Amino acid sequence: MTVLLEPEKSCVAVVEQFGHPIGMDSTVAAPQSSGAWTPDRWRRLPAAQQPDWPDTHALEQSLKTLATLPPLVFAGEARDLHGSLASVAEGKAFLLQAGDCAESFYEFAADNIRDKLKVILQMAVVLTYGAGVPVVKVGRIAGQFAKPRTSPTEKVGDLELPSFRGHIVNDDAPTPEARRPDPSRLIAAYHQSASTLNLLRAFTKGGFADLSRVHVWNQDFVASSPSGRHYEALANDIDSALRFMKACGISFTDQALHQVDFWTSHEALILGYEEALTRRDSLTGDWVDTSAHMVWVGERTRQLDGAHLDFLSGISNPLGAKIGPNATPEEVVGLCDRLDPDRVPGRLTLISRRGADKVRDGLPALLRAVRDSGHPVVWACDPMHGNTFTAADGRKTRHFDRVLAEITEFFSVCKEEGVWPGGIHVELTGDNVTECLGGADEIAEEHLELRYTTTCDPRLNGRQSVDLAFRVAELLRR
Ligand code: PEP
Ligand code: CO
Repeated sequence: MTVLLEPEKSCVAVVEQFGHPIGMDSTVAAPQSSGAWTPDRWRRLPAAQQPDWPDTHALEQSLKTLATLPPLVFAGEARDLHGSLASVAEGKAFLLQAGDCAESFYEFAADNIRDKLKVILQMAVVLTYGAGVPVVKVGRIAGQFAKPRTSPTEKVGDLELPSFRGHIVNDDAPTPEARRPDPSRLIAAYHQSASTLNLLRAFTKGGFADLSRVHVWNQDFVASSPSGRHYEALANDIDSALRFMKACGISFTDQALHQVDFWTSHEALILGYEEALTRRDSLTGDWVDTSAHMVWVGERTRQLDGAHLDFLSGISNPLGAKIGPNATPEEVVGLCDRLDPDRVPGRLTLISRRGADKVRDGLPALLRAVRDSGHPVVWACDPMHGNTFTAADGRKTRHFDRVLAEITEFFSVCKEEGVWPGGIHVELTGDNVTECLGGADEIAEEHLELRYTTTCDPRLNGRQSVDLAFRVAELLRR
């Protein structure tokens, strides 16, 4: 449903970022009569997957409050990520985008943020070695709360309930009250994102991400698991490389080895939330969605004439778009024209999510069409969403081997078409969950019930994630 906000006067927050003053004008602009883009222009268009908020006054109040709150990220940071993604588009870097399917209001503690970051850093070191290029690290974190649903209602036992849409909208408990969309959750999601981001900034700049330390974690993984032993050679190669660097006098207290850049991203689904956090960057005059460094549009909301593409088209953040097996070359090129009209490297990442068996049929035509259209996109592979199935006990799961198979197919098709396979996009957690099958500890269907804690899709656990990184590194070195 669509809610019109009262025009609100701008409030200017001057923010100090790395010594550069940046003025952010937090305007929720009134609809304009001209067709010029404004953060609220999406309201005139059909917006798929928006909650049916029962209390529109409360919604309006929450959005107004959000519009006065400080930005979560700064424009200069989004520009830096844009630059790094431009290197990916040019084949000079590799993208690792990873994190929860849906962050949870309950699973919110320093330890699980730390453990998720730890796994992503471990994967990044292995992938850096495998790809021989820098790895751009982007979390599905600090804002990944909203979920698109195939159906507006779901059956739990005999009850027909409104679907769970992520903790930014409603609660997952199976009662009608819990499933009622509650706009105060928009504010709670903002604050949880701010705390998460604060911790991530501390961890990534405060020594936790030190390269030699991350390497030791990987050596522990290799030593402690049967499948880990398989990677001994690669881990030893990394070890030799590090010793060589030390011998050459490269200091491990150098900033480059001691700190990492880590970026945030989420699906820009709830457009009122994204609009309220969209501010003008006074250095460039551009609009920036300050809810995350990068945002993406999902498979269910990427209609060419829909509200989501219109909203994304006007913000200057780097963007992603999920591309499923039914997308035609015309649609994908149309999407590139909408989101990347100026053909800027790093602006747009296309995230292919087809299912392992559907890569060879169909993806080559998309790769060719986009290349011929001149859009310098990043192509990445999400091997999760096309490989989900329901296990005998009714739980949604994915098998490690199918995940790896989709990445393998993606890499080989990219190679055949002369396109750089720019990255992977995976759902994972640092926790020792049993949600996906196979991998390092050979999780089987009967283990699913042990630690199945996701609020939405099944995630790779910490060891499956590092296992996957080693496999992908082997593919990249071929
Ligand atoms: C997701 O990334 O969690 C998701 C819902 O993906 P998709 O839009 O590709 O289905
Ligand atoms: Co998901």
